[in-house]
Amino acid sequence: MRAIGIERGAERPALLEVPRPDPESGEALVRTLRVGVDGTDHEVIAGHHGGPPAGEDHLVLGHEAVGVVEAGAGPLEPDDIVVPTVRRPPNGEGNRYFERGEADMAPPGAALERGIDGAHGFMSEYFTSPAEYLIEVPADLAEWGFLVEPISIAEKALELAYASRSSFGWEPETALVLGNGSLGLLTVAMLRADYEVYCVGRRDRPDPTIDIIEALGATYVDSRETPVDEVPAVYEPADLVFEATGYAKHAFRSVEALGPNGVAALLGVPEPWTFEVDGGRLHKEMVMYNKAVVGSVNSGPRHFRAAVDRLAAMPEWFLEDLLTRVVPVESFEAAFEESKTTIKTAVEFEP
Ligand code: NAP
Ligand code: BGC
Ligand code: ZN
Repeated sequence: MRAIGIERGAERPALLEVPRPDPESGEALVRTLRVGVDGTDHEVIAGHHGGPPAGEDHLVLGHEAVGVVEAGAGPLEPDDIVVPTVRRPPNGEGNRYFERGEADMAPPGAALERGIDGAHGFMSEYFTSPAEYLIEVPADLAEWGFLVEPISIAEKALELAYASRSSFGWEPETALVLGNGSLGLLTVAMLRADYEVYCVGRRDRPDPTIDIIEALGATYVDSRETPVDEVPAVYEPADLVFEATGYAKHAFRSVEALGPNGVAALLGVPEPWTFEVDGGRLHKEMVMYNKAVVGSVNSGPRHFRAAVDRLAAMPEWFLEDLLTRVVPVESFEAAFEESKTTIKTAVEFEP
């Protein structure tokens, strides 16, 4: 069967011929419908993050998938629409994180990530997975199901942020989303009902992401004119910051973007970068204003299920404007070309 992967040392993905997987006991066989591409895929392709399974010369890409069950397992039956979670136990062996159903809390080395780190992904005509790692999606959401994984990432980060503010009467009103990539825009769409939302980018108008931000009722902030730590002076302090850029200076500046008792959730995965910060000022600011900063990676079945409901509530126009490129598998190269007019790309396998 056809798969899209990155070979060790290669600069670009390639179309590979790999054996069709046979489901083992407890596993379902899934026919892939669509697989999304995100910033992490570009980091994996560039060799900055993750890599092939031990002893193998390539990694099948893709961690944002939706497919249809061909051979069922557990409660899953043929024709069910499913979305796979990303993490799997290393060497097939569980550990305490997997035993607790909290693989998303495992540190690097204690989990493999399909399509990212040490385990093949879902960008192939078929994949297998234990039923426990497959989340059911209503059939009418099948075409958008690949967005469940990235939405689940935001669900987990928000859960951690709220948990850190759960000991007092926190009444957040203002959210600052850093990043107008697909994760940033999905988060703006999630938060707009409950927050006054600002979204930070670094682009000139006209730009399709700015159009989406404004159509969602949020305010676009250009970080070239207003650095993140100056947002409170120019706009207003944020109760919640959601960082989705991978730009490390934004992470530190987010402490000063917060109002009293605020929380910043960091999701970007930057490369090492040395720069100066006023550590004393940041330390004092966090203590005197009861601020919190939480890091968040990956997501688990609970977050996937919440993401299915969140996806169902998103307006159709937003999903259509977000998904700027659907690429058939045979034209896979186009899925990895970066351009300012592309927001979200999905690779489509034949119906
Ligand atoms: P993406 O599509 O590459 O989006 C990143 C966005 O951030 C782009 O729109 C980019 O703007 C903007 N940006 C970068 N540097 C900026 C700066 N200095 N000022 C203003 N905007 C800036 O990536 P994504 O898929 O949305 O993911 C966002 C980040 O989250 C990535 O680092 C990714 O690795 C990470 N991530 C983490 C998790 C997790 O579990 N923690 C999950 C998914 C993704 P331009 O396009 O104009 O350059
Ligand atoms: C994926 C997560 C993964 C993270 C770090 C993200 O793009 O969506 O599932 O844990 O990258 O590799
Ligand atoms: Zn991702």
